[in-house]
This record gives sequence, structure tokens and C-alpha cells, in this order.
Amino acid sequence: MAGKRKGIFITFEGIEGCGKTTQVKLLSGRLRNHGIPVLATREPGGTLIGKTIRRILLDSRNTAIAPKTEWLLYAADRAQHVQEIILPALREGKWVLCDRFMDATEAYQGRARGQDTQLIRVINDLVVQGVKPDLTILLDLPVEIGLGRALRRNSVSNAGTQDRFEREHLSFHRKVRKAYLDLAQREKDRFVVVNADTSEQEVEEAIFHYVEPLVQKCSGVQRSGFRKEKQ
Ligand SMILES: Nc1ncnc2c1ncn2[C@@H]1O[C@H](COP(=O)(O)OP(=O)(O)OP(=O)(O)O)[C@@H](O)[C@H]1O
Ligand SMILES: [Mg+2]
Repeated sequence: MAGKRKGIFITFEGIEGCGKTTQVKLLSGRLRNHGIPVLATREPGGTLIGKTIRRILLDSRNTAIAPKTEWLLYAADRAQHVQEIILPALREGKWVLCDRFMDATEAYQGRARGQDTQLIRVINDLVVQGVKPDLTILLDLPVEIGLGRALRRNSVSNAGTQDRFEREHLSFHRKVRKAYLDLAQREKDRFVVVNADTSEQEVEEAIFHYVEPLVQKCSGVQRSGFRKEKQ
């Protein structure tokens, strides 16, 4: 169970194109430079089984997918991911950086798709086996900017194709953004909200501002505990 975990678990959340993947890479590099063992992973698709689930979830042809099918596939992906990757890495003392995790299900499938958020929390609790993030970084920016970035990225690296979520209406993405901000408000001890509408480097610095105390705590420099400060 989660009791024996020694590593630190940081999740990255936010709407499409807010910079999660970019910042997971940047923070991984920075932590490795501090001599910290890092495992960078993502949902959906952090395992071999999860990759198959990811293909189903993101395939833009799967417009017939029922909301409960979508939600439970995310849950199945997470169950496998925690069991096979996240929990063993944390037990080994690695820092796990995860590109989307349980909050995404509550924001997308719960608030934006209208599924029962209470039930989503119950299933999340079941599949995470007590493995809750130590810190969740919410990268926040207007949906038009995030989607614009995702579109430009796809035109360069993905032959211009959009996944099933990127094809959703702006109103859907606005609901997701609002849901994330509400989650951050509800769980202030775990979340930090970072303005993602700045340069990659500025976002990186803003994130490290929150992560540095954890690094110091783990390296024994600062023993007073992790305390977040408002930006
Ligand atoms: N701060 C930034 N300013 C400008 N462009 C950025 C910034 N951060 C990332 N980008 C670029 O925007 C695009 C989207 O970034 P990225 O893929 O990291 O976002 P994401 O949140 O992982 O998106 P998705 O939700 O689709 O996985 C990429 O082309 C990336 O290079
Ligand atoms: Mg990404």
C-alpha cells in the first residue's frame, strides 16, 4: 500500500495546450540536475495496457463513446498505472512527475461531461490505492490560447490532426478550466495555480518556486517542512 512510499509525487493538470508536457520535461531535467531520480509519466497511456486504452480514448473517430465508458476507461488506465508504474517508483524513492492524473477525470468526465463527481471520487480513491499527489501544479490560461498552441503544435508534429478532446467546443474547454480552478480552490494544500500564459521559462521558474522547498527538504537542507507560498 501507499504507506511505504518514499518518493515525491507531483502531478500536472490543465486544459489542452497549457504546457503540461513541456513543463514535465523541464522539471524532470532540473530535478535530475539536482541528483534526484525522476520518473516522468502520463495519463492516459503510462503503461503498455494504458497505451491501448489511450488510443481508444483519443481517437477522433470514437464519437460514439458513452460518457461512462470514457470515464471508466480512464479509471482502468489509472488503476494499471498506479499498480505497475507509480507505486513501485515511489517505493523506490523516485520522484514521479505525472502529466494528468485523478483531477483530470473530475474536471473532464465529471464537471464538463456531467458525470457524477461523487462517484468519480469514489472510483478514483479505489484505483489510486492511497497514492495522492504531494503537489498538483495547475497550469492555467485562457482556453483560446491553450487550444491555439495545441493546434500549432499539431500542425507541426501531428499532420494537423486533432484528438477527440481538442475537437470539443470552446464551451467544453471553459467548463474544464473552471472545474480545475474550483478543484484548486477546494484543495488549497495540494494545488498550486501557475499562470501558464507566459513564456516557457517563466512558467518553469514559477513551478520551481513551489518545488524547490521539496528539493531542499529531501536533501536535508531545510528540515522545517514543505510550505507553499502564494505568488
Ligand atoms: N509557455 C509557453 N508559451 C508558448 N508556447 C508554449 C508554452 N509552453 C508550451 N508551449 C508550446 O505549446 C504547445 C503545447 O504545449 P504542450 O504540448 O506542452 O501542452 P500540453 O498541456 O501537454 O497539451 P495537451 O493537453 O494537448 O497534451 C507546444 O507546441 C509547446 O511547445
Ligand atoms: Mg501533453
